[in-house]
Amino acid sequence: MQIKKGTWRIAILIPKLNIAIKLPRIYFKSAYQMSLPWIKNKGVGQLLKKEIFEFGIFSHGAVSSWLFRGIAENFCEFGFYLKTRHCFLLPTYFSLFGLINVQKLAIEPKINDRDLLHQMVTLTHDKANEHHYRNPANFSYQDGKLQILDYGDPDVQKVVKEFGKLLQEKFDINAKCPHNGIISGL
Ligand SMILES: Nc1ncnc2c1ncn2[C@@H]1O[C@H](COP(=O)(O)OP(=O)(O)OP(=O)(O)O)[C@@H](O)[C@H]1O
Ligand SMILES: [Mg+2]
Repeated sequence: MQIKKGTWRIAILIPKLNIAIKLPRIYFKSAYQMSLPWIKNKGVGQLLKKEIFEFGIFSHGAVSSWLFRGIAENFCEFGFYLKTRHCFLLPTYFSLFGLINVQKLAIEPKINDRDLLHQMVTLTHDKANEHHYRNPANFSYQDGKLQILDYGDPDVQKVVKEFGKLLQEKFDINAKCPHNGIISGL
């Protein structure tokens, strides 16, 4: 058994059962530190108004995201898999309201972040250009098939819908990013 930490989830890997159990991470201290100045200066009502009408759980800087984003990611990951059964998604078998998810165990692709991101950017015409797509730990590669394992975020889901099939078909585990790759800063 192995434990891996992401920003919003902790995964407990159980190779014997070929599954990973994904649990949300909750940041009480950050939520407290972020809400305190708001409550002091403008009151709880203003904070709630801002949280409900301006921010969402997936917004950076929202108090609710420090508390509930892990749960939301789990919940949306399962919902998106159930709804689409998209071939690019590593299957999520079960979710208990986002509190506990059970997903197929991934096999991390042996590719470096630069080569991975270069392919993502090239194949999606620069739509998959964020940090998310340069981290091989967000993917699984088995029998020549690439799948994504971290797909709770609505922005990621958009990319999967539009480019998931193409990414799976065209991804080449051995492709290298040229020295003057199109991605600035690589
Ligand atoms: N099904 C799986 N099989 C194997 N390892 C997994 C699986 N799901 C998650 N992991 C590991 O746990 C880590 C955290 O999971 P995941 O990426 O889904 O969570 P996250 O908190 O949303 O990530 P991030 O930090 O990228 O926002 C992954 O980077 C990966 O190493
Ligand atoms: Mg991740």
